Order: sequence, then C-alpha cells, then structure tokens
Amino acid sequence: MPALIIGSGYGGAVAALRLTQAGIDTHIVEMGQSWTTPGSDGKIFCNMLNPDGRSFWLRTQTDQPVGYFLGSPANKSISKYTGALDSESFAATRVYQGRGVGGGSLVNGGMAVTPKRAYFEEVLPSVNSNEMYSTYFPRANTGLGVNNIDQAWFETTDCYQYARVSRKRANDAGFATTFVPNVYDFDYMKQEAANQVPRSALASEVIYGNNYGKKSLDKTYLAAAAATGKLTISALHTVTSVASASGGGYTVEMVQIDTSGNTVTQKTVTADRVFFAAGSVGTSKLLVSMRAQGKLSNLPSAVGTGWGNNGNVMVARAGLDLTGALQSGMPAMGIDNWADTNGPVFAEIAPFPAGTETWINLYLAITKNPNRAAFSFNSTTGKVDLSWKASQTQPSIDAAKRVFDAINSKAGTVYRSDLFGVNKTWGDDFVYHPLGGCVLNQATDNYGRLPGYDGLYVVDGSLIPGSIGVNPFVTITALAERNMEKIIATDLQ
Ligand code: FDA
Repeated sequence: MPALIIGSGYGGAVAALRLTQAGIDTHIVEMGQSWTTPGSDGKIFCNMLNPDGRSFWLRTQTDQPVGYFLGSPANKSISKYTGALDSESFAATRVYQGRGVGGGSLVNGGMAVTPKRAYFEEVLPSVNSNEMYSTYFPRANTGLGVNNIDQAWFETTDCYQYARVSRKRANDAGFATTFVPNVYDFDYMKQEAANQVPRSALASEVIYGNNYGKKSLDKTYLAAAAATGKLTISALHTVTSVASASGGGYTVEMVQIDTSGNTVTQKTVTADRVFFAAGSVGTSKLLVSMRAQGKLSNLPSAVGTGWGNNGNVMVARAGLDLTGALQSGMPAMGIDNWADTNGPVFAEIAPFPAGTETWINLYLAITKNPNRAAFSFNSTTGKVDLSWKASQTQPSIDAAKRVFDAINSKAGTVYRSDLFGVNKTWGDDFVYHPLGGCVLNQATDNYGRLPGYDGLYVVDGSLIPGSIGVNPFVTITALAERNMEKIIATDLQ
C-alpha cells in the first residue's frame, strides 16, 4: 500500500486528509474502536457520573483524574472493554490518552488555543513562525471547526457560573483571565441550556466522550478524508512492529483485538510510507522498541528523548462561592499569568460536573517546567519505560502555588486536599498533555522525516519538545499541516 498511518488523532487525521486529497490511497491503523454504535442505553459514550466499560480502555475499575472525594476513593468497577480513555501507567506518572478513531479529540475538553508566538518561537526555533501564524494556525483552526463563545451568553448562563466565580477570584488577586476558543459547538450548547436538544456538555459528558455537540476529528478531518474515497481505517488494530522490508518500503505488523482486548488475529502488511501518529507516548514507544530490537536500528539517539508533561498540574480550591449544579463540561476560560517570569502559568478553569453543588473550583495549570524525561526499552519486561520522576513535577507545583496561594489569600479560601488522595493538594501524578519523545529537528529533520529511513515520518505530538504553554492540539494540528504540505510537495510528487 502507498501510505499507512499509525493512529487517528490530530497528527494522523491531518496526514490522512492531505494524503487522500493528493490522490494517495491511505490506510489508518487505529488501536481503539470506531465510536459509531450506540450501547443499550442508546448512547455511544457514557457520562462521567455513571461510567461503564465505555469509559476506560481495558480496565476493570475506573481511574479518574480526580480519584477521591472527601478523601475516599471515588473509582468504580466497570466491565473490561475497549473504552475511550486510557490511563497508561509509568513509574511516576499516568498518561491519559484517547483511544478510538479520533484519538484524543474524543475525550478532551476541546480547548483550542493557539500558543503565544514568542513562546512558540522559543520552543520550536527551527520552524518559520511567520508561516505558522499566517498560514498553518489559521488552516488548523478552520479544519478543526474552532468557535468562540457568545460572551453575553457566558455572562448569564447557569452552566458557566463556575468559570465566572473563578474569574472574579483571579481578577481580585490581580491575575488576568481570558476567553478560550473551543471545538465544541457553542450554538449547540446554547440550545442544550434552553432544553431544545439532547444534552452533552451540559450532561457531564467530557473525558469519556461526547454524544453531541463536539467537533471531534471523526466529524472534521477524518470525515473529509473519508469523503475522498481514498481512506481505509482498520479500527481495533494495534501496530506492534515496523521494519525495513527487503524489497523496499516497510513491513508493518499488527494485532487485531476484540472489544474485550482478546487477540483475534495477527496481520502483516507492506507500506511504501509509514506515518507515525500514535501520539507522544505511542510513537515514542514504537520507535524506541524498534531501535532496541534491531528493526530500525539506525534511528538517531534523540529518538525517545525530550519528553515533557507540558507542565501539567491540577489543583482545586474550596470556598463558599456557589459554582453551580449545572456545569458545562467544556472549559471556556483560563487564567493567563504566562508573562510572569518567576514562573509562567496558564490555568484552565476546569469544570467539576458532579450534577450537584460542590463549591469546588478546579484548575488544570500549564506551567513552564524545564524538566524532561526519556523512553527506554526494557529488555527484561519487553516494555518501554519512561524515566519521569515524581520530583520533576515540583517546578510546576511551585509556579501554580504562587498563583493559587495569592488567589486563596485574597479570597479567604483554601485548597481542597481530598480530591487527589488523602491530604493531597496537588494532582501531580498524571498528565493530559504528553509532548515530545521524537522532537522536531532533533530526532527527525525539520519536517518530521526520520533520518536514514526514506518514507518514515512522525506527525504527532511527539514532535513538540515537552512544552507549548497552552493546551496542545491546535499546535499539533498546525505543525502537521505544515509538515504534510512539505512532504507531499517534495517526497510524493
Ligand atoms: P492522539 O493521542 O490524539 O492520537 C494517537 C492515536 O494513536 C490514538 O487514537 C491511539 O489510540 C492510537 N495509537 C497509539 N498507539 C497505537 C498503535 N501502536 N497502533 C495503532 N494505534 C495506536 N488538548 C487541547 O488542546 N485542549 C484540551 O482541551 C485538551 N483536553 C484534554 C483532556 C483530556 C482528558 C486528555 C486526555 C487530553 C486533553 N488534551 C487537550 C490533549 C490532546 O487531546 C492531545 O494533546 C492530543 O490528542 C494529542 O494528539 P496526537 O495526534 O499527538 O495523538
């Protein structure tokens, strides 16, 4: 086959659209399922209040990011199923990732943030930022279907009470706040609030998928790619090996599983070109394993390095502000303290959609944490380890603490210490924004080509060196647009 893409998240979806539009028959191999069939309740995805097997990837118990309430474990038993959200454990961190056709777009908060230009230039100095900000960021925003909230509606609707009170407390303490674009259709959300359509964002649906309203990749890039007639998707297929084929091209081995995770069959195909789009963790794991096992032994030593968690740390405040029983699961606002050179912070004002008043103000802080980690193949276990240590999260906590100490002090509020463990204030042992592992212009050339292997490319979040200062999918998409344009023009004509 001419082109095989491993994974169907942002990088994979952009690659699929641009390859198929160029007339190239393209095959996506995706380990998760195609989320098109409703369950017995008539819904494709389950909500956060009543998680079932659809919530998590092959687990018998949920592993919620906020795993405790009032100090007691809040996780529930579920049936083992190929659910939408994976929490993948390494020694000192858990990495949350979407599983299914659409990757992370199925489970994320939809926050579509273009990074600050100066920081983008600092992080990716080899990329022409004029081109990015004039061409590829706008192209990505259009392709993703990004829209902005009606600010007058935001000020009055019950479902953003939580964001308004967090904004007030931040502003009172001297911090700026900003509206954040989203790929959730805000017009649909307005109709939800008016009880005119079935509820999704207003029905505690987010991290296990949204049944309505969200423009996930299966509705945007992947739908457009499928419309060319040149796209094939093999869902519930996990790529396990990529090696140079003797007659040219690459031999790709994969395992097909059923929805309980049992192996159905193993398959081997040959592809002229392989695009790695399995996400920061998935792509890094595959490439590091292939190098160690001698299947792609000439990959550079930089492959597997430069991984970071985008400075992620979660925290919650407790006070007497009413945050609302009805909360939109789609964040629409952030606290922007990135200009503070003592410790930049961009904090998403996150919902806590419990369906009842909780007085909880929740935040996902993105900080400028300089620490990085590396993936390595463990020949004893046959698995890939990630060297991230718990202590490496400390700079993120320090930066976030300066902001939230100040907010608490001004508001007379305190941290909640019952949500991430017993007497544990910081949600510092998990990540929503894994980045790096196959960094642009280090592990690859300046367009994602893997050196020494004609026809192997990396197109996903592993290209971004560990930090981007905002929620990352717009950057991943725009960089994929830039790189695919170059690759199609120069390698595929
Ligand atoms: P992505 O992870 O999207 O896709 C990789 C795909 O490859 C997956 O579908 C996976 O199943 C598949 N795969 C992996 N290994 C494979 C193998 N060996 N064989 C076959 N398939 C394989 N970002 C943002 O900008 N705004 C937001 O609001 C949020 N919110 C958020 C909430 C939550 C709960 C999470 C978990 C994440 C976010 N994010 C986010 C992060 C965002 O979703 C993430 O950065 C992108 O999805 C990463 O895009 P990629 O294309 O790199 O990989």
